[in-house]
Amino acid sequence: MDPDRIFPSFTIHTPRDIVFGRGKSALLPSLLPASVKRVLVVSGRHAAGAEAKTIADALTASGREVRIFAETMAEPSPGAVDTASAAVRAWGADAVVAIGGGSVIDTAKAAAALARLDGSCIEYFKGSRELNVTDRPFFAALPTTSGTGAEMTNNSVLTDPATMIKKSIRHPGMTADLAVVDPDLTMNCPRGVTVASGLDALVQAVEAFVSPKGTDYTRALSKAAACKLYGALKSLTLEPWKPAADPFMPDAGFRVDMAEGSMLAGMAFAHAGLGAVHGLAHPVGSLLHVPHGVSCAILMLPVFQFNMNVCGRLYGELAHAFLPKEDRPDAALFIAAMRELSLGLGVPDHLRDYALSEEHLPFIVANCRSNSMKNNPEPMSDEQVETLLRSLI
Ligand SMILES: [Fe+2]
Repeated sequence: MDPDRIFPSFTIHTPRDIVFGRGKSALLPSLLPASVKRVLVVSGRHAAGAEAKTIADALTASGREVRIFAETMAEPSPGAVDTASAAVRAWGADAVVAIGGGSVIDTAKAAAALARLDGSCIEYFKGSRELNVTDRPFFAALPTTSGTGAEMTNNSVLTDPATMIKKSIRHPGMTADLAVVDPDLTMNCPRGVTVASGLDALVQAVEAFVSPKGTDYTRALSKAAACKLYGALKSLTLEPWKPAADPFMPDAGFRVDMAEGSMLAGMAFAHAGLGAVHGLAHPVGSLLHVPHGVSCAILMLPVFQFNMNVCGRLYGELAHAFLPKEDRPDAALFIAAMRELSLGLGVPDHLRDYALSEEHLPFIVANCRSNSMKNNPEPMSDEQVETLLRSLI
């Protein structure tokens, strides 16, 4: 008998250095290796541009040559990665620094990984070339949203615009060398993005917590993450949001909890994997143009309900942690708490606003069998996928 089937067995891949805390992005010049001389800062066109400029100026002041690449896109394509990778090569960068949300970090991560490899990104995306990342520029990731956990993972989620297929390219060598998680970089994140990315992080924490691949290491991280994220997001529901009070500026404690929860969730799911919420969110998101966090938030309730028989004990454990006044771990309380949170944050409980219809079901069924779907604690048949989706029409 293989001992790995009886006893825990795992390998941990995380960024070599993880630096967390308010204001820590100012330390970036001293956190990069002294050998780094030319840096390509990758950022978004609009969001986080100011933060990227400040950090680029600090890197320049440290004696490095710095160029900013801001031609990134939401839901990045393999072609967008090729463009960024060409910029890494053209600049002769020995370090790539991503400052942005998940799309920016995933673009920069893949661009750095492919910068010294032959072939185009679509070949690795389609699997016609095998990805083996052994030599690439130093890669640092600084998230400006609290959600994707992309600073902790070894993959980039990409969408092929020709087929609308959304999936990852992945290799342990893609994991960042350095992650700097500075909650101050998220201070100006608008409310809609904060809620959507925060719910994505919460779903990632829950899916990692109940994952069949979970270990004591990942469950400790994902439970702590889920508690921080649930508590912070719940606080947003207690006070009605006033659009007139924009820009959205919650207190620093909220931003710190969200950033830490998102980071811990990323560390957990990077090893435990995700589940059917993410298996379905990718084809739903690419086909109907639903922001990732929103599709996760809408899909989570029916998927968690579907998993109830297998995950009841662990859901109950989360309910006990979320609601300390409840003296018994009750899975139904967990579902109710998540429903109340989602509705309280203004997330719809259906996909009608995104025009989900019967004709979309074959595409979603055909493209949902990712690693996340395979990792769902309760296997979901094609018929069960269709039934779940019909409940959201
Ligand atoms: Fe996600």
